[in-house]
Amino acid sequence: MEKASEWLLSFNSQESDHVNYLINQRKNKFNKTITASITGGKGGVGKTSISLKLSKELSKLGFKVLLIDCDSNLSNTAIKLGLPLNNTFYSLVSSHKSFDECLYKENNFHLLSACNGNLDLFDSSLNLEEIIIDIISTHEQTYDFIFLDCPAGLTKEALTLNAYCDHRLFVVTPDRSSITDSYSLMKVLKHKYGINENHLIVNMYQSHKQYEQVVKTMSETVESFLAGRTLILGGVEKLDIMQSRFDQFLLEEENNSTHKNFLKIIKKYTDELFRNFNTQKSFEKSKFEHEVQPFC
Ligand SMILES: Nc1ncnc2c1ncn2[C@@H]1O[C@H](COP(=O)(O)OP(=O)(O)OP(=O)(O)O)[C@@H](O)[C@H]1O
Ligand SMILES: [Mg+2]
Repeated sequence: MEKASEWLLSFNSQESDHVNYLINQRKNKFNKTITASITGGKGGVGKTSISLKLSKELSKLGFKVLLIDCDSNLSNTAIKLGLPLNNTFYSLVSSHKSFDECLYKENNFHLLSACNGNLDLFDSSLNLEEIIIDIISTHEQTYDFIFLDCPAGLTKEALTLNAYCDHRLFVVTPDRSSITDSYSLMKVLKHKYGINENHLIVNMYQSHKQYEQVVKTMSETVESFLAGRTLILGGVEKLDIMQSRFDQFLLEEENNSTHKNFLKIIKKYTDELFRNFNTQKSFEKSKFEHEVQPFC
């Protein structure tokens, strides 16, 4: 398969043309793998927690899932899973290790974690978004879903990765700065890359009324000012537990309303994918029919 870096090298035009080319390549491909960024602009809103939970729950349903930690030098995914930290991501991008050697695997769930304050990575002039797109295009046939846990901020790297993905799952909290930052990111994506559609997950809401307010504010603002569509996936309530217990509770315990909320989010997402794939693409229908059915 032609690599993203080769596509990029073959183009001498403006940077936005490069990205548009990559995005169009992806849209035109007859592709069974879904790529989705977990994003939102603002830091600390729950992107990594939601990336991990979503990836693990989908993998338990039988889907093969790769989660790529795109917070390249402040990686949190391994920390949340209680795994030892390593800098294998740098070994991969500097071609010292293979992709497979750098993965953490738990049945159908595969994680490519990133680095933590790695000086070589910090000093390198590597174009990480391009490298991540290369990794996706080289390995996507192995997976049903590839999720990107995006870093906070309105950086070129975050924009490119968001633009490249089939879907963008925005994680927004009721905090006004979270709403504003997500809107700003959507606005730039719309103006620079013509992206009209994003998904929304409301995290850390404290009442149903608050959840509804965030949904209304985001969807109405995006519709009025960006002529865009917000697909609502649901929400996760703010948990009143010690921070040190949060990751284990979220990722390992199942007999609680948070877990049930997640299953609803996943059902809504997979139902939507099933409807789209049924008409457009060749996704393995059987997975939707047999394995997602139980929690209908
Ligand atoms: N629903 C929730 N209820 C309570 N605490 C939460 C909830 N979701 C996330 N948190 C807490 O918020 C903090 C930030 O979560 P997380 O690291 O997932 O956010 P992030 O958006 O990935 O942050 P960053 O932008 O730094 O990468 C964590 O300490 C986590 O425990
Ligand atoms: Mg994070």
